[in-house]
Amino acid sequence: MNDQQRRRPAKPHRRPQKDPVRFLAFEALRAVDERDAYANLVLPPLLKKARAKGDFDARDAALATELVYGTLRRQGTYDAIVAACIDRPLREVDPPVLDVLNMGVHQLLGTRIPTHAAVSASVELARVVLGEGRAKFVNAVLRKVAADDLDGWVARVAPSYDEDAEDHLAVVHSHPRWIVSALWDALGSGRAGIEDLLEADNERPEVTLVARPGRSTTDELLTALGDENGLPGRWSPYAVRMAEGGEPGALSAVQDGRAGVQDEGSQLVATALANAPVDGSDTRWLDGCAGPGGKAALLAALAAERGAALLAAEKQPHRARLVERALAGNPGPYQVVTADGTRPPWRPESFDRVLMDVPCSGLGALRRRPESRWRRRAEDLESFAPLQRGLLREALKAVRVGGIVGYATCSPHLAETRVVVEDVLKGRGGEPVEAEWVDARPLMPGVPALGDGPDVQLWPHLHGTDAMYLALLRRTA
Ligand SMILES: C[S@@+](CC[C@H](N)C(=O)[O-])C[C@H]1O[C@@H](n2cnc3c(N)ncnc32)[C@H](O)[C@@H]1O
Repeated sequence: MNDQQRRRPAKPHRRPQKDPVRFLAFEALRAVDERDAYANLVLPPLLKKARAKGDFDARDAALATELVYGTLRRQGTYDAIVAACIDRPLREVDPPVLDVLNMGVHQLLGTRIPTHAAVSASVELARVVLGEGRAKFVNAVLRKVAADDLDGWVARVAPSYDEDAEDHLAVVHSHPRWIVSALWDALGSGRAGIEDLLEADNERPEVTLVARPGRSTTDELLTALGDENGLPGRWSPYAVRMAEGGEPGALSAVQDGRAGVQDEGSQLVATALANAPVDGSDTRWLDGCAGPGGKAALLAALAAERGAALLAAEKQPHRARLVERALAGNPGPYQVVTADGTRPPWRPESFDRVLMDVPCSGLGALRRRPESRWRRRAEDLESFAPLQRGLLREALKAVRVGGIVGYATCSPHLAETRVVVEDVLKGRGGEPVEAEWVDARPLMPGVPALGDGPDVQLWPHLHGTDAMYLALLRRTA
């Protein structure tokens, strides 16, 4: 046999097949990682383009969404599993390789996609986006991962609860440890409570609509959605839930601004402020941190019903324009201004009701922004604290004696909630403003588990809302 005969025929080179769903999900994950993009902003235009090209149907879009959101949410758990399957530190794995791996782990351990399909689709994606060499690495790692299920892996890679409860919860429920610790402090519960909360953060929230009073009704929205998709809200009299999801923008009430998309927690906050008792005049309302305008639109509609006017202020001009858009068509008087609430253009004691929904860490809305938990740092809270205190102090100065201020955050972190209010009431870091607590709980009728008051902390696992915080204060002098 000569050399020619001995040499094995070369394998025909097969071009890797591009699976449009996995490819699109990978593109979205890269944008989140490389450009600090938000998944909820990056994904819709990619999906729209793919559908316009005819590449995608609704099921493909649902799978791509699940791959992106699931991979980002469960990143902490999946990183720990991948780390256990490789013989070098995880930080030495290139980010695009880790994205392909984590998305593969999600398919294997977090979906019903059969093992062989999850591995082969991931390896094929790796061939397309990473090249042959790295595709072999992906194949080897995912084959190890496929040897066990999620519970089995978690039992192997997470420290035991007794050894280190916070680290255990961080790995099992895929949250940074400092966030587990902060949420646990704020919740003040035992193990079951914090586990329920962390898992609720890993669920996709229902889409909730608000029927802006005087402009639309819950009946109109329920009829438009039909029996299959429309459910009444749990707590807010203006809420309708979209049980099956879908595109809220397809509803004419939403197109016209008579209704909007709004979590029930935000609806409860705005309504509680609007319904808190005040003596005397009740015609001048202020939303001091209004952008993008969800609460302002509900407040303006409630104000219109009572003959009051809303001033909506927002520091960022582009967000002030969003407020303009949210308020357009409001039946009562309103004005939108671009203004810094810490150096306000309005005179002291000019309002009967003031909402300060301050900028915050957003730890109460982790279920909406799957990447945000990995971006936030504990140090971020220090940068918010002086601004939050300054805005609350100015809100208390802006309200007349006897008027009401609502201090709200979309974070349950104590450093952004009760600590800020107590600091301001005690005059820490600025001059004291005389005010007293108003019990916010009776202003959320029918809502259970509101704690000892007087402030209210809502929770995803208890109320199905974002973890909104509300303190109500009455100016006393
Ligand atoms: C949590 S968001 C408000 C959400 C809004 N209430 C809603 O329901 O749509 C906080 C807003 O405060 C704005 N902001 C930040 N610093 C501000 C300041 N010094 N004065 C006024 N607005 C400010 C931010 O740009 C952001 O739009």
